[in-house]
Formats: sequence, structure tokens, C-alpha cells
Amino acid sequence: MSEKAQLIIGGKTYEFPLVTGSEHEVAIDINDLLEKTGAITLDHGFKNTGSTKSAITFLDGDKGILRYRGYSIEELAEKSTFLEVSYLLIFGELPNKAELFKFTDEIKKHTLVHEDIKKILDGFPSTAHPMGVMASLFCSQTAFYPESLDPNRSAEGVRLSIVRSLAKMPTFAAWAYKNAVGHPVNYPDNSLDYCGRFLKMMFALPAEDYHVDPVIADALDKLLILHADHEQNCSTSTVRMVGSSKASIYSSISAGINALWGPLHGGANQEVIIMLESIRKDGGDVDKWINKAKDKNDPFRLMGFGHRVYKNFDPRAKIIKKAADDVLGKLGINDPVLEIAQRLEEVALKDSYFVERKLYPNVDFYSGIIYRALGIPVELFTVMFAMGRLPGWIAQWKEMRENKEPIGRPRQVYTGATPRPYVAIDKR
Ligand code: SDX
Repeated sequence: MSEKAQLIIGGKTYEFPLVTGSEHEVAIDINDLLEKTGAITLDHGFKNTGSTKSAITFLDGDKGILRYRGYSIEELAEKSTFLEVSYLLIFGELPNKAELFKFTDEIKKHTLVHEDIKKILDGFPSTAHPMGVMASLFCSQTAFYPESLDPNRSAEGVRLSIVRSLAKMPTFAAWAYKNAVGHPVNYPDNSLDYCGRFLKMMFALPAEDYHVDPVIADALDKLLILHADHEQNCSTSTVRMVGSSKASIYSSISAGINALWGPLHGGANQEVIIMLESIRKDGGDVDKWINKAKDKNDPFRLMGFGHRVYKNFDPRAKIIKKAADDVLGKLGINDPVLEIAQRLEEVALKDSYFVERKLYPNVDFYSGIIYRALGIPVELFTVMFAMGRLPGWIAQWKEMRENKEPIGRPRQVYTGATPRPYVAIDKR
């Protein structure tokens, strides 16, 4: 008989089956807890709660392990490409040459967006944050492709929505940037690869030749791989929750873009650079800011540090930190905030406050330094995170739909007023 968990409530013992994953993680299956015991669980922030079974990404927070479909993030970042990793996450296996060529070619054929998108874009003032523009433009695809409103339509129809999402995201991102700087938009140049096309749409200026720097394109491709998926994080759980109501892939991912925007999640990469610049302008006194981060009466947090799951080094942070050195060296850039970041890390990792709470640099701590070196403006840093996370959101939405998961509807413990009669206004 498989092992069981026992729960004693009101002197009665209840048994629940244990579920063991392929990496030997153990969960208590409480699918009939309320029916059996009349009680629910309470778990703020779902720190101890699994929402699903998934075969996409595995991470071990204690060992600092991250694998996409069983392949280590270190190997994929070094040897693969973003579109190959996207295919792996979404379809479950690395593509062969013909499959990757077909996938890449399909994406090339859908990089253009409907001209009416410009009418939506023109409605945004240049002060609009590009994440808000992106979320709106991405969701507007439900208007241009109304057949996508049925998430259960044919496999070919779902694949077309997946291809359109990956193909148009860079166009939306670049157009959101052009809107922020008041420049005319550029159309995708399909003679270039995925990152080259994006960089040219971002930085090409009228009547100027733009040449893609391979160092920049390669660094961007690696960063997108490192952000591609991360199991049931805040934005991915949002995509799954919205998708569980049978909302379209476009509206589900638009919700994920909004969840990623928050400074505690994907928005942290923008906050890290703002923080590092503040420390630099304040004279670079790292100890002063470390003490502020430790002071419970001070709202300052060390952005880019800490993680819900990683209680060891975020493996992505290690790769990005090395890549930052490489890219700045190759581009001949000496960014003073890199040295401040390295000193912050060095001091924090020796400080008992951070050591006791197992707070290490996360994916966002060094990524902004590379984005800045690549010429990406700070208000677009989280947009870059969204571009990278897109295949993960797609893969998770697709898995949830294929597994026919029920609509997400958590319960609560009510703590409000108990029954009371209405009192007429002149008697209150
Ligand atoms: C991402 O989930 C994912 O996988 C996300 C992500 C992905 O790929 O999708 O990895 C991407 O979102 C990375 C995280 C980016 N966010 C930041 O860098 C913002 C700064 N970090 C935090 O605010 C915090 O660490 C979180 C939000 C990341 C995690 O928060 P938790 O797990 O809810 O932990 P907590 O806030 O309860 O903190 C535990 C303790 C607290 O102190 P005590 O109450 O125990 O005294 O650690 C302290 C916190 O005050 N703490 C920090 C801190 N992070 C946590 N103190 C100072 N600086 C920090 N950065």
C-alpha cells in the first residue's frame, strides 16, 4: 500500500494519499479534504501549496537546480538558442533540424501585426509604461483573431496562436519602446534572426543603416533562454488561473504580463538598476544600504535579492553575472554600477541577516546591467523579461488545457461580521 499522510481533527484520524514526482518531491493529495473533514487549508502566498502536476520545468531551491524538460539551464544557455528552447518547452522535446526550420519559418511569416494596432498604440501617451502597452497590444490579438477565443479549437488553430504569440511579441515590445521615445515604428526585417529582428526594430532610425552586433544579439538570446520558464511563479500561476476559465491564450498571457510587471516579480530588474544608480549617486556606501535593507523600520529592500524557492544561489544569476563580465568586456563598457552590485553581493553574503534568511542574488540582480550594456532602456527591462518568459507561459497554458484542469477557485477563511439586521439610515 502506498504511504499515506494522517490528519487528526476533533479526535478523528483522516488519511490522505501521498503523490511523489519524478524528482522524488512529495505532496499530500488533499483533493477531498473539505469533503472528508469539513476543513480547508490556509496558506498565504501558497508557500506550501502545489497547484498542479507539471512536466515542464523542475527547480530545486536548496541545490540551485533549474531544468527545462530535464535539460539543465547551464547546458541550454551555453549550447541552445531561444527558439529551440521555446520549442522544447512548448512541445516537450528538442526539435530536429526540419522541425526547428519549420518552427522558425512559421514564426518569420507572422512577425507583422495588423496596421490597426497602430491606432491602439497611438492612444497611449509616450509616458505610458511599456509593460502596460504590451499587455494591451497582446490582448488586442483576440480582436484581430476572434477564432482564438475558443481555446479548445483544433490543434492547428492552437499552434497558429502559439506561433503568432512568439512572432509578434518582439514587434509589440519594440513598438511600445518607439511609442515611449516618440519615434516612428520599424517593421520586422525577416532576413534577420529572432533577436536581430527585435534589435533592428528597437534601434534602427530613419535613413540610417542599422547593423546587428552579434555580441549583443548572442547575449540577448542567452538572456531570453534564462528567463524562459520557472515553474509556478506568480505570473505563470496567473496565466494558468486565467486560462482555467477557458479564456483565450492571448488574454491569459496578457494577464501574465500584468502580474510580471510588479516590482516584487519581473519588475525587480528595473528596480535593481534604479537602486544601484541611487547607491552610486549617494556616494557608493554599500554598508549604509545593506543596513537600510536589514532595518525593519526602513521600507528599503535589496532588490534582486531573495527568492521564494531558491534558498541557495539562483543558477540563472550565476550565469548572468558571468555573462555581464563577458559582454561589458567585449563591448568595452565600464559600468560603475557593476562594481557596486559586486560589492553589495560580497557584503550581503557575509552578513548574518542575509545568511540566516538564505537571501541570495536572483535572476534580476545582474540582468539589468547587461540590458543596459546592450542599449536596452531601463523602462524596457521587464518587457525583456516578458519576451523571455513567453514560451514558458505558452507551455504552461497548453499543458493546463491538455490536462483539462478544472477552473481555479480557491476557498477562504471568513473573518468578517456575523449575521446582523439592516438598520434604516435615520436610525444609524
Ligand atoms: C522573480 O517565483 C519565481 O520563480 C520568480 C522569478 C521567476 O523567474 O519567475 O524567479 C522571478 O520574481 C525573482 C524575485 C525578484 N524580486 C526581487 O528581487 C524583490 C526583492 N526580493 C523580495 O521582495 C523577496 O525576496 C521575494 C518577493 C522575492 C520573496 O519573498 P518571500 O518568499 O515572500 O519572502 P519574504 O518577503 O517573506 O521574506 C522573508 C524574510 C523577511 O524577513 P523577516 O520577516 O523574516 O524578518 O526575508 C526578508 C523579509 O523582510 N527579505 C528581504 C529581502 N527579501 C526578503 N530583506 C531585504 N531585502 C530583500 N530583498
